[in-house]
Amino acid sequence: MSGALHGIKNASSIFGHSNDFDTIIWKDAVIQEVNSFANISAKYSIKDIEWINANKSIILPGYVDSHTHLAFGGSREHEVEWKLQGMSYSEILSSGGGIHSTVKSTRDASLEHLTEITLSFLNTMLSTGTTTVEAKSGYGLTVEDEIKQLKAIKQANERHSTTVIPTFLGAHLVPSEYKDEESAYVELVIEEMLPLVAKKKLATYCDVFCDEGAFTVDQTLSILTRAKELGLGIRVHIDELAHLGLAPHATALGAVSLDHLLVTPENEFEYFKTHDTVANLLPGTPFVLGLEDYAPGKLMHNQGLTIALSSDFNPNCWITSMDIVIGLACYNMKLPPSVAIQASTAGGAEGLELEKEVGRLEKGMKADLQIINLPNIESIPYRLGSQIKRAVVKNGELVHNTLS
Ligand code: NIG
Ligand code: FE
Repeated sequence: MSGALHGIKNASSIFGHSNDFDTIIWKDAVIQEVNSFANISAKYSIKDIEWINANKSIILPGYVDSHTHLAFGGSREHEVEWKLQGMSYSEILSSGGGIHSTVKSTRDASLEHLTEITLSFLNTMLSTGTTTVEAKSGYGLTVEDEIKQLKAIKQANERHSTTVIPTFLGAHLVPSEYKDEESAYVELVIEEMLPLVAKKKLATYCDVFCDEGAFTVDQTLSILTRAKELGLGIRVHIDELAHLGLAPHATALGAVSLDHLLVTPENEFEYFKTHDTVANLLPGTPFVLGLEDYAPGKLMHNQGLTIALSSDFNPNCWITSMDIVIGLACYNMKLPPSVAIQASTAGGAEGLELEKEVGRLEKGMKADLQIINLPNIESIPYRLGSQIKRAVVKNGELVHNTLS
C-alpha cells in the first residue's frame, strides 16, 4: 500500500469531526486529510486514490488499550464458581489461587508458548479494533521468568502489526516462596530485576500492584524511584481493593498513568490534574469481581481529569473487546458514549505518551483506524457483545476486514 494515496469515503461519521466530514485519506502510514468528499475531490485527483467504501458505517481511531496482562500461561475459569459462592478476590488469592495460580502456569510455560498465546490475544483484540496495546509482565516473579514474559511480549510485538508497549510488573505480588521475607523480594526487584530489564531494554514502563495484600506505599515508592532512575516510565495499579493513599506520591514522582481507582477519594483528583497523570479506568474488573462500585469516571471527567479506559485483560478478567469495555463504562460509570470512546482512543494514547501519533484521526497522525458497521457511536454500548462487522487499518494497511 506504500506510496499511493488511500482513502475511505461515504462514512456516516468520523469520530472527532463534524457530521459533514465523511472522507479520510492517508499516504504511507500517515493521515493526509479528514474532510467532506466534495472538499477532498476539489483538492485531490480522486481517481488516483485507492478507495474503501464505508457504506455509511462509522469510522473511529483504532482503540488504544493501555492496561493489559497479555503473556500468561493457563486460565482460571474454575474461579468463576468460587466468585459466585461469594469468595472475594483477596480470599481467592490467600487460598493460593488468583495470581499465584497463574504464576505457576506461567513459570511452567516456554518462551515460545507465551509468545504464541500473546500473538493469539493480539489477533483477537485487533479483530475488535484494538491497534495499540500495553502489556505487562508480572506472572513470572523470578528474574528468569519475568525476563521470559517480557521477551515473549517483545517477540509478539515484532511479529504482529499491533503496537505493543511493554511494562515490567515484577512487583505484582510477593511470590509464595518469599512470603516470610517480603523485603527480600522487594530488594530482588530493585537490585536485580529492574537493572536487568533496563539494561536489556525490555520495558518502557514499570508498574506495581500497590494495594492491600500486595505492596505497601513505601515498598511501591522505593521500586518506582529506582525505576525512574533507570529511565523507565511509571504507571501503577492503585486503589483497587483499598485506598492506601499512593496517588499524591506517585503523581509527584511523575506517574504517567494511575490505574483502577475504584476507591480513590475526590480530594485526590487534584493531584492527577496538577501532574498531568492519566486516570486509567478498568470497568471489566469490578464487573467480573461482582463489585457494586465502579471508578468515579463521570466525576473525574467532569472535573477535568484525563481519563483512559482499558480492558485490564488478564486471567481474572478475560475481556479482550474494547467495545465491551465502552459498554461497561457507559452503563456503570454513566459516561456518555463519546466520552467513553475518547477515553479508549485519545485517553489511552496519552496514558502511553503516544498522543502525537495515535488516538485521533487528524492530519499527521498515524493511519490506525477502524470502520465499524454501525449507524452511530451510541450503537457501540447499545449492541454490547453482539458480533459487529468491521475493518481495521493499522499503519495504513488493511489488516482485518469482515465488512463484505
Ligand atoms: O489489574 N490487580 C492486580 N492485577 C490484575 C489482576 C491479576 C490477576 O488476577 O491475575 C488486575 O486486575
Ligand atoms: Fe491490571
